[in-house]
Amino acid sequence: MNEMRAYFMREVPGIDAFLAAEADKLDGLVREVARHVLLSGGKRIRPMLTILFARALGHQACDIMPIACALEMLHTATLLHDDVLDQALTRRGQTSAHVCFGTTEAILAGDVLLALANKLGADYDIPRLNALLARGIMATADGEIRELAHTRNPTADRGAYMDIIIGKTARLIETACRCGAALTSRDRALEHLAGEFGLNLGIAFQLVDDALDYTVSEGEMGKPAGGDLREGKMTLPLILHLEALPPAEAGELLDALREKRLTVEQAEGIVRDVREKGLAEKTREEAARYVAAAVKELEMLPVSPEREVLAQAAEYVLTRRK
Ligand code: IPE
Ligand code: IPE
Ligand code: MG
Ligand code: MG
Repeated sequence: MNEMRAYFMREVPGIDAFLAAEADKLDGLVREVARHVLLSGGKRIRPMLTILFARALGHQACDIMPIACALEMLHTATLLHDDVLDQALTRRGQTSAHVCFGTTEAILAGDVLLALANKLGADYDIPRLNALLARGIMATADGEIRELAHTRNPTADRGAYMDIIIGKTARLIETACRCGAALTSRDRALEHLAGEFGLNLGIAFQLVDDALDYTVSEGEMGKPAGGDLREGKMTLPLILHLEALPPAEAGELLDALREKRLTVEQAEGIVRDVREKGLAEKTREEAARYVAAAVKELEMLPVSPEREVLAQAAEYVLTRRK
């Protein structure tokens, strides 16, 4: 992991500086909301993936930062909107923007960041970049809406769960990788390779996130722990729990989730069961299969420091605790 850590330490300050400069150009309240969330220390995984793929494919010009940061802005916009949808009170270890500034303000600041990301992409005059950004935004919104519908009518359906996490999380990570490739080369086969890496990594990323929700404290994650069950979200640990229950009990639990009448004691019991039966661990094992598929894609890339960092980033997704 050492190469990855060193690479991130070298590049992240440039990302942070670019984001701060862009936020400072915004007006009034939007600027405050954007600064609050943009500068509160995310892991910067998406912009790093854009940078790494561009360089792994031979990009040398020093024009990477706008498109890399466009990906972080898109991500940040989805966080602003997601915390409204999930009524989440903390994000990145701070009070969520919609709590600090108001729901309307948070939604509109998210819209501004979406537009700014598109503008940064458009300034390259590479139409493919805009097509990729648009597709990534659509898929993310689609995944969030699917999740909303599924939370209202929960089923222990793995296919529906996979469609949701691919949409809400994996497609944007795929987009980050594809944009790095598309900045450097018009070769669609290379972009496809980057995309397959990102898609698999993104699925693993959300699987691990869903495992962490059952096992890690809010202090460590910087966002509410145990929130998924509280929000009635059907994630893989809960699906595995339901699959192991006798059918009548599973039916009763699904009814309780649908009707939002799970008591605090019941919820605590489920979290305990998930931990004791190792279901978060099983979820992580599922994630490991997707990480292996992602890493396999890298074999087709020429050897470079960036290829090694990408491989280490894939392993990090499995071991991360925030
Ligand atoms: C959080 O993403 C949202 C998910 C897709 C699970 P990150 O875990 O990358 O969040 P930050 O940017 O580091 O805060
Ligand atoms: C992650 O959704 C994807 C987006 C933010 C679009 P979650 O609701 O699962 O993510 P967290 O747990 O709030 O970061
Ligand atoms: Mg959500
Ligand atoms: Mg959320």
